Amino acid sequence: MTEQIYKGLAGVVADHTAVSKVNPESNSLLYRGYPVQELAAALSFEEVALLLWNGELPSAAEKQEFRDFERSHRALDPRVRSAIDLLPLDCHPMDVGRTAVSVLGANHPLSEDSSPEAELTKAKELFAAFPAVVAYDQRRRRGLELVEPRQDLDYSQNFLWMTFGEEAPEEVVDAFRVSMVLYAEHSFNASTFTARVVTSTLADLHSAVTAAIGALKGPLHGGANEAVMHTFEEIGIDPAETREDAAARAKAWMEQALTEKRKVMGFGHRVYKSGDSRVPTMKQALDAMVEYYGRGELMGLYDGLEAAMGEAKNILPNLDYPTGPTYHLMGFDTEMFTPLFIAARITGWTAHIAEQRANNALIRPLSAYNGPDERHL
Ligand code: CMC
Repeated sequence: MTEQIYKGLAGVVADHTAVSKVNPESNSLLYRGYPVQELAAALSFEEVALLLWNGELPSAAEKQEFRDFERSHRALDPRVRSAIDLLPLDCHPMDVGRTAVSVLGANHPLSEDSSPEAELTKAKELFAAFPAVVAYDQRRRRGLELVEPRQDLDYSQNFLWMTFGEEAPEEVVDAFRVSMVLYAEHSFNASTFTARVVTSTLADLHSAVTAAIGALKGPLHGGANEAVMHTFEEIGIDPAETREDAAARAKAWMEQALTEKRKVMGFGHRVYKSGDSRVPTMKQALDAMVEYYGRGELMGLYDGLEAAMGEAKNILPNLDYPTGPTYHLMGFDTEMFTPLFIAARITGWTAHIAEQRANNALIRPLSAYNGPDERHL
């Protein structure tokens, strides 16, 4: 008998989830029933996090309570700082993020307590603590000192403050917030599924998140936002160029890349075949950044690549395509883009970890053996 193989688990429905619904037919994404576009237009990232964890929008009292909690758990843990300082400046920032979560887990008094209350506390702490990891890592790579968090700023404002050491303008904060909301959750993607696999063995939350970070690092998943910028860099970024000239160069680059059968990161999706539901909202945020920074030529590159990919293969951009240049314009180093994705996806991962724990079954698929027949020494 030959077993049916679902390579890459494509098309396999592995379990139920009430966290989010991806609908490729209607091109929509719902978090706990709410269209992500509506959430991105109206809510803070902190409110979206509470929605993902609790299943309902927070009351005013819940918002206030989480506001105080989050602001009081932002400082970089000295043990995490010491661990980061041991890592070379040229290691990938995803390695730093993965190590930081591991250190937090190893030191957490509730590490082995998997009660729903303990798990939620750990999720909220991780949410609050992770921005300082990214900000510190970005700064140390530039030879700059740590910037302490500020209590009077919200999550997005404070994230940018700790990274750049100055208050970001409202437009930039808003584009950053939108990216966090859009990156927060996306059903059984590779990293979330990884977190669920680890959780299914009854391992602790920090182990599940650490493993998820490993899965997110790859360019077929979260690493694509960084890879998009490397494409732009390979084509060549020239702020003095006209939008039209940049578009023409990008088109020519794409045609050549596709002739060479290269995979171009930031395009295509396993689930969406007629466009990623999150792209229009993120594209608006990118447009706002391009206008704010006066960098129309970047949109020339963006449009040129998109048009050429569409004409040649009818493959559309995914969320990583507009976030890459958005983070670039904000001033993050290219290698820091995927750690920003971690900061956002901690919410979705931990919501799925809770869901997996509440109704657990060990995740352990079968394989079809295709090695040598039985043989003997
Ligand atoms: N560039 C060039 N060709 C592509 C691309 C691309 N980005 N994406 C798909 N194709 C082609 C692929 O070469 C294949 O062609 P053929 O049938 O002629 O061999 C066909 O389309 C199907 O591709 P696939 O890789 O077998 O399909 P998949 O469902 O496994 O792909 C994907 C999903 C996301 C892995 C893929 O589209 C890809 O590698 N994209 C680039 C990486 C990327 O942007 N990842 C981010 C995903 S979304 C957000 C996130 O998770 O961060």
